[in-house]
Amino acid sequence: MHTIEDKYKQFEDRNRAAELGGGEDRIKKIHDSGRLTARERIEIFFDPGTFVEIDKLVTHACTNFDMGEKRIPGDGVVCGYGKVDGRLVYAYAQDFTVFGGSLSRTNANKIIKISQLALKMGAPLVGLNDSGGARIQEGVRSLAGYGDIFNLNVKSSGVIPQISAIMGPCAGGAVYSPALTDFIFMVNKSSYMFVTGPDVIKTVTHEEVTKEELGGAMTHNSKSGVAHFMGNDDEHTLMMIRELLSYIPSNNLEDPPSVPSNDPIDRVDESLQELIPVDPNKPYDMHILIKSVVDDHHFFEVMPHYAQNIIIGFARMDGKTVGIVANQPNYLAGVVDINSSAKAARFVRFCDAFNIPLVTFVDVPGFLPGTVQEYGGIIKHGAKLLYAYAEATVPKITLVTRKAYGGAYDVMSSKHLGADINYAYPTAEIAVMGPEGAVNIIFRGDKDEEAKKKRVEDYRDNFANPYRVAELGYIDEVIYPKNTRLKLIQALDMARNKSESNPPKKHGNIPL
Ligand code: HXC
Repeated sequence: MHTIEDKYKQFEDRNRAAELGGGEDRIKKIHDSGRLTARERIEIFFDPGTFVEIDKLVTHACTNFDMGEKRIPGDGVVCGYGKVDGRLVYAYAQDFTVFGGSLSRTNANKIIKISQLALKMGAPLVGLNDSGGARIQEGVRSLAGYGDIFNLNVKSSGVIPQISAIMGPCAGGAVYSPALTDFIFMVNKSSYMFVTGPDVIKTVTHEEVTKEELGGAMTHNSKSGVAHFMGNDDEHTLMMIRELLSYIPSNNLEDPPSVPSNDPIDRVDESLQELIPVDPNKPYDMHILIKSVVDDHHFFEVMPHYAQNIIIGFARMDGKTVGIVANQPNYLAGVVDINSSAKAARFVRFCDAFNIPLVTFVDVPGFLPGTVQEYGGIIKHGAKLLYAYAEATVPKITLVTRKAYGGAYDVMSSKHLGADINYAYPTAEIAVMGPEGAVNIIFRGDKDEEAKKKRVEDYRDNFANPYRVAELGYIDEVIYPKNTRLKLIQALDMARNKSESNPPKKHGNIPL
């Protein structure tokens, strides 16, 4: 007969074994690589003392390759729920010390269990990924586990926010669940994502590439556009995820949390009167305007390193979350191209899915011309942004600061795509195309350079202003730059109870 002490000791031993994962040596290896363990990450991520672990003692059922002898309670993934700023959040953290964080069938079942709970309870799901992909010893059972996770990711999309952090090497199947989620964070210099690694690439294509170049944090944040954020280290990355969560609701039926601010809603910024250069070819930094008008000058930018001709991110105005989309005249003159369209379109759709009003700042000379863009499919990619704005039923407020030319005028949350309030500065130029382009086409045969110059000036005076459009009612109000904050907050407040829906359908067919 066992004593009660024996029973408690057995309970404690099993828990300790789960907490030790793959053992001290492997934990040391993780620390030596600049990473934290799965449990350390969970500890840092959640409000102190709030994490509740489930399935801590689950083990795998594989017997191939002597795996029956190698069972570690928990099987390489820590799953559970806790609080972030007092709000319920579900999370899983893959434990690289256990078979390289690889995904077994059992391991997948654990992730699926908390994902289903998150979906049922209407709370965000955060995945801290650090995994060598499918657990090779388990074969197709592991692939089945991935497939089931992918399926649930898709079912949960647009219902609860799903956030992924890549915090170590993530190969093979380990990259596809994150790809289906709303946002991907990577840790600089210690995280990698690739479908096939450098060795396979060398064999198949003879290309030589380091894993950092191929799938490091900067590669995916600046080149591929796969990742949305980059943290300096594990802790910084986890804090960034907490910050992101502060802007978004727990599910698609809730509004985002409100965070009251002491920043006066009618704060006037005289310096904005001088921000927009009179010379239309002179750039300026749109970040200055964004930071000037949002609460406490705080802007949480999404994808800051990718397609910098468009800026996207979250901020608060009068304490309430807004999603900001802005052309950036400081980079490629703020043109719309393939990458910027895809970047902004996905963001607009996220905001629309999660009841976050959109504020759009427009200074766009048009679409980027050229064979690279045309062959790359700018027609279908540009259409994504059009589609996303037209489909969005959240409040949409637009401000044209300077240029809004051609198709890009229509795309950037124009009245015609259903914007609720459209403002323009007196410096706005809204027309079918820029003065030089227009004169070159209308007076194609004319070789008289002096006359041409005069015609460009005339066109600029007559058409490149906000008044033609204001006369038509496509701009609701021309405003002083210094009053932008108050004007935007008034419009957002007016549109707060907006109720609009698209015709019932299974789903639309966004150009992909
Ligand atoms: C089982 C694995 C594993 C895996 C790593 N390990 N990946 N065990 N299945 N997929 C184990 C290693 O054997 C090792 O065990 C421990 O984890 C740590 O691995 P290391 O190689 O020592 O670590 P590191 O040098 O940091 O390299 C990490 C790595 C590398 C880049 C992830 O391990 C790697 O290339 N792994 C294989 C990646 C891969 O091809 N996965 C399968 C993809 S197929 P010990 O006991 O020595 O500590 C796939 C298909 C799904 O995922 C498709 C769905 C769409």
